[in-house]
Amino acid sequence: MSTTLITGGTVVSATGRTQADVLVDGERIVALISPGASPFGTIDADLTIDATGKYVIPGGVDAHTHMQLPFGGTNASDTFETGTRAAAWGGTTTIIDFAVQRYGERVQDGLAHWHELAAGNCAIDYGFHQIIGGVDDDSLKAMDTLVDEGITSYKLFMAYPGVFYSDDAQVLRAMQKATDHGLLTMMHAENGPAIDVLAAQLAESGKTSPYYHGIARAWQLEEEATHRAIMLADVTGAPLYVVHVSAKQAVEQLAAARDKGRNVYGETCPQYLYLSLEDQLGASSEEWGDFEGAKWVCSTPLRSREEGHQDAMWQALRTNDLQMVSTDHCPFCMKEQKELGKDDFRAIPNGIGSIEHRVDLLYQGVVTGQITLERWVELIATTPARMFGLYGRKGVIAPGADADIVVYDPAGHTSIGLGEGRTHHMNMDHSAWEGYEIDGHVDVVLARGSVVVVDGEFRGAKGHGSYLKRGLSQYLI
Ligand code: URP
Ligand code: ZN
Ligand code: ZN
Repeated sequence: MSTTLITGGTVVSATGRTQADVLVDGERIVALISPGASPFGTIDADLTIDATGKYVIPGGVDAHTHMQLPFGGTNASDTFETGTRAAAWGGTTTIIDFAVQRYGERVQDGLAHWHELAAGNCAIDYGFHQIIGGVDDDSLKAMDTLVDEGITSYKLFMAYPGVFYSDDAQVLRAMQKATDHGLLTMMHAENGPAIDVLAAQLAESGKTSPYYHGIARAWQLEEEATHRAIMLADVTGAPLYVVHVSAKQAVEQLAAARDKGRNVYGETCPQYLYLSLEDQLGASSEEWGDFEGAKWVCSTPLRSREEGHQDAMWQALRTNDLQMVSTDHCPFCMKEQKELGKDDFRAIPNGIGSIEHRVDLLYQGVVTGQITLERWVELIATTPARMFGLYGRKGVIAPGADADIVVYDPAGHTSIGLGEGRTHHMNMDHSAWEGYEIDGHVDVVLARGSVVVVDGEFRGAKGHGSYLKRGLSQYLI
């Protein structure tokens, strides 16, 4: 087994920071050593990494990704190979992706297919949630064995009728089953049937550009569905995790429920912290005209900056009304994918690719004073590990944990995008983040003890990542 010593850095955790050297033996962290206080005398490691002046943090855990997701007649453009490599470039060393079951399909078959897609292809460790896109007797029965498979959370959709949608009766039945097994219910909370009516009316009146995607998906329909999900969870005793929250009114619903002692949690995404409906409205390019806005078509949609949704998301992260930031990484190229909806926004595949940039984009929140350094680490690594049954192994720098470690340079700089001198390793023909400048830089990344990124080079390997059988959420009551 080879040893690695990371010297001179500031180890940052969710609760504080300390000067310490970090000793790795094989795949695990074995010691944190105060400078000059080694009980082993001088350590002669196989590899020494100088982290002087830098932060040493746990590798990022991105708990919401969609490699190869079938959507809108196409598939998300990142494979497990390309997506996990891009994740590593950006300091993320664990992903939790969504295995898919749709109407008429067996959960076991969907899950087996997802294992086939991922096995042997990932550069970093990975786990799965299960999408239940067709709640019936068969899929409910299949939920009985998910925990044994290491899948302790599953996702339902109150949106996308005819695709993944569950009505209230189906949601209720699935939540009852989740309560029996300690599964965490992840909810896409938007009123899909109402959205589809508004979207059809807009399209019929000639309002077909990408901007109208956000108009059809009004915040009222996110607030309403969030409230309904909370009440259905309350009736069934199911803990609830609402994914990709973008409306400030939805956050208010979550905060009010938590104030009443309900066991509910909320996740937002970098796009809802930084991007807005106004940006989408103003988007235009020579190549695409106002269809340029398709780059930012995702659900829930981008919201109006004028209405203050982005500020509300940052505030909720400070006050812990929202606990999580995941990417909802679901990339589609403009050519041949997004352009399927060139004449009608309803046919644009929904999703944005961000897996490479979450650690950096959230660090920018530290630079601008939105969150503290410790909250940054809590959001990018520690809370996702706790929320999804990985803590101890992931999300922390401590003896016994997997050596998933990022050396982050606060004096470095990152230019995001596809242009000259910029980052971008996702399998996309555009970046939703083109031109974003970050005061900070992911210098070195270790994944289970192996250096996968250093000196601006990817040194990882397809197949290094292993499947993670997850335990129950630490947030169950
Ligand atoms: O736009 C999105 N979010 N696409 C991925 C599917 C989902 O709802 O998470
Ligand atoms: Zn969703
Ligand atoms: Zn998603």
